This record gives sequence, structure tokens and C-alpha cells, in this order.
Amino acid sequence: MKKAAPVSRSGRFAAGPSADVARFTESISFDWRLWRFDILGSLVHATMLRKIGIITTAEHRSIVKELEAIGREIHDGKFTWKPELEDVHMNIEAELTRRAPAGAKLHTGRSRNDQVALDMRMWLRCEVLDLASAVRDLQASLVGLGGRYADVILPGYTHMQRAQPVYFAHHLLAYVEMFDRDYQRLLDCYQRVNVCPLGCGAIAGSTLPLDREMTARLLGFVDAKNRPLLCQNSMDAVSDRDFAVEFCAHAALLAVHLSRLAEDLVLWSTSEFNFVRISDAYTTGSSLMPQKKNPDVAELARGKSGRVIGNLMALLTLLKGLPMTYNRDLQEDKERLFDTADHVRATVNIMAAMLQQTTVNAEVCQAAAADPLLLATDLADYLVCKGVPFRQAHHAVGTLVGVAEKLGKPLNLLSLAEFQAVDARFGKDVLGMFELQSAMHRKQLPGSPGSKEVRKQLARWRKELC
Ligand code: ARG
Repeated sequence: MKKAAPVSRSGRFAAGPSADVARFTESISFDWRLWRFDILGSLVHATMLRKIGIITTAEHRSIVKELEAIGREIHDGKFTWKPELEDVHMNIEAELTRRAPAGAKLHTGRSRNDQVALDMRMWLRCEVLDLASAVRDLQASLVGLGGRYADVILPGYTHMQRAQPVYFAHHLLAYVEMFDRDYQRLLDCYQRVNVCPLGCGAIAGSTLPLDREMTARLLGFVDAKNRPLLCQNSMDAVSDRDFAVEFCAHAALLAVHLSRLAEDLVLWSTSEFNFVRISDAYTTGSSLMPQKKNPDVAELARGKSGRVIGNLMALLTLLKGLPMTYNRDLQEDKERLFDTADHVRATVNIMAAMLQQTTVNAEVCQAAAADPLLLATDLADYLVCKGVPFRQAHHAVGTLVGVAEKLGKPLNLLSLAEFQAVDARFGKDVLGMFELQSAMHRKQLPGSPGSKEVRKQLARWRKELC
């Protein structure tokens, strides 16, 4: 069977590329997924070419008809992609031209360099919005889980040592805040993705009177006031990929947040902690040890951050030494971008689903939170209220902890005399300091894990997310 001649080599070349070169340079194996946007861009470009008189109404009609048919075939899995035609742009255009001779006019004033930048920007716009909405759902899952166990208190840790008691919900709301910044960053980067490169040609625009504003408008590259958003420099438009880097950077940070949340779940679900129970559906067994229930979903969520950070590094490295403007190296951007979008979205979605089915072992948390040492700082604050300078109060409570340890007693079971032996300013009321509920009521600062404040934050997020 005769192979289709690569469009980009017509005329100048006596022969087609060798098979190994074709294999090495093709991108259709991964950029086919841009097809929707490639067709959309072509439809709009054709409409503009008709308006400026480059193609007739009849030619426009035939182009639209065949592009739509090709789109349907791709959608139905009936379209044959030809690797010898290199990429999604040439595959679609060649097939269009085979069906409608006017297809040969479609590339007027256009290069694959502005075309690929356009397709990627349109593809990424959708991905950014999809991911942002998935992040919202994840936040809602966290708020839901926190709300279901709103009374549960557990130890908060620094240096992986028990530090101070916090509500379980407060711990989860910390992630809600992180994911909210991820969400905001995604929406922010949308602004720079949503700028239209079409009409910038290969590097230097065109001598033809292309209507860039018209194509930008029709493709939705507009601001809130419906003003078209155009790349303002043709060289920048075809050579930079900072919109992709920015997305990959935000996604990498999101992946890092997901990884930390996953790590908390892995730790909390160990027999040693036993704070939460991950539903069986989100765990796997061991092929050898019958008793095992492994948190593989959380582990993979943690692990995927590695590849996503790697994708960002790959993109930055790809760009750093490139001379202006388009260089074929840029074809390497797509797999990294696609990989980041796919894996981060999948991770956000599965984490949201897993959290919905995670249960909390309230008694275990409560027992851990009952450790009186968690309130040592409150004890120092008590002395501060009696006029003791904080450094001295800290020292006194440290001494008390040592005394309790020596006597083999919990801190809250020291006698008043033992308290007063360390600092005479301890009064009878000191023994009441260890009541956990009142301790949580004493925390009233905005942002603190106090009873009222955590309820307020839960209510605020519920309102924001639901
Ligand atoms: N497949 C190419 C890419 O992804 C499309 C642009 C090709 N442009 C070129 N001048 N060879 O970058």
C-alpha cells in the first residue's frame, strides 16, 4: 500500500523520511488527543478565511462538513491515524484535503507552530477547569469527613512527637486551606493559558489580512468584558510554553499536598496509630501475608508526586537552552503535560472518594489526646496569667514534667504540693487545667483549634463548597 506523503515535505524533498526517522519524529501516538481542539481551531480559521475572502462560501461549507465528519469518526474510534503523517494536525488536514479539495487552502496564513500552541492552550483550558472542580470536590470530602467526626480530638505533632491537642477536623481543614490555594493558583494560571496565538504563523505572522480578533473571539479567548485576548508577540506565541510550565508547577504543588495528606492517612491507618480505618475498597492484600491490608491507594497518591515533580523539571529543562523560536524539541512538552494532568486529576478524584469512605477510630484518638503532656503549654500559659515571665513558666513546667517522669506519675496526677514545690504561684485551680474539653474551649484565637473556632471554620467551608 502506498504511504501518504508527509505534507510538510512536499516540494522541497525528493524522498520521504526513512522509517526510523518517521518513528523517531512522530507525535501522533500521543498528540492525537488534541483532535477536538485541532478541529475546532480549523473550523474557526476557515470561517475567518471566508470572511477575508481567501475561500468561498462553498469551499467553507465543504471544509466544515468534512471536518465535522472527521470529528465524528475520531470520536467513534473509526478514524485511522497515520504515523507517517507525523502529528494530529497533518493527519486531520491530509484527510480533509483528500475529501474536500478546498482543504488545501486551510493552512493559509497558519503554521503548525501557532496551531500546536493554540491546540495545547485550548486543551489545557479544559483541563485546568476540570482539575479545579475536582479540587473543590476533594475539599468537600475533607470537610464532610471532618464534620462527621467534629468532636474527635487527637494529638497534633511536631517533629513527629506529640505536641498539642487539636480537633481531627482542624487537621483536615489544614489541607482544605492548602487545596484552596491550589485551586486559586489554577484559576489564576487560566488567565495566562487563555490567550490566543492563532495568526502568529510560523514565527512572523502573515502578510494576509487575517482577522486575529475574530478567531480569538470565536474560540473563547476573551476577557470578562468579551474583549479578545491575543498573544502580542508572534515569536513569543510560538516559542514559549510558560503556560504549560505554570500549570505543571501548580499541579506539582497540588501533588505535594496530596502526598502529605496520603502520608497522614498511611500513618494514621497503621496498627501503631490506628486513628483511622481506610475502607477495604481502597486497600489491597499481600500475596504472601494473609493478614495484610495495605493502603496502596494512599501510597500511590504519595508516589505519583514524584513523576509530577519530574514532569515539571523536564519541561523547565526542555525550555532552558532553546534558541528562539520554535524548535522541534518543543514536541516533547506534550507527554509531560498530559501525564501531569492525567495523574494529578486521577489522584485528586480517588483521594476524594477514599476520604468519603474513611472512618475514624474515635476512642483511639480520644485516648491519645488524653495524654496530659499535650497540655504542658497550657500550663505555662496558666503561670503567665499569674504574672510569670514566659521563659520562667516554660522552665517551671519543664521541671514539673521531669518530676512527674521521675515519680512515674502522669503530669495531671501530681499533687498541689508537688506543683507548688516547683512554683508557689500554682493555685488549686491548676488541676482543672487538664480537662481536655475546657482546654479546647480556651483556644479562641482565629485560626486556632478551639471548639468554637473549628465549628466556625467547618461552617464557613461548608457554605463555600456546598
Ligand atoms: N508535532 C509538532 C509539535 O508538537 C507540531 C509542530 C511542528 N512544527 C514544525 N515546524 N515541525 O511541536
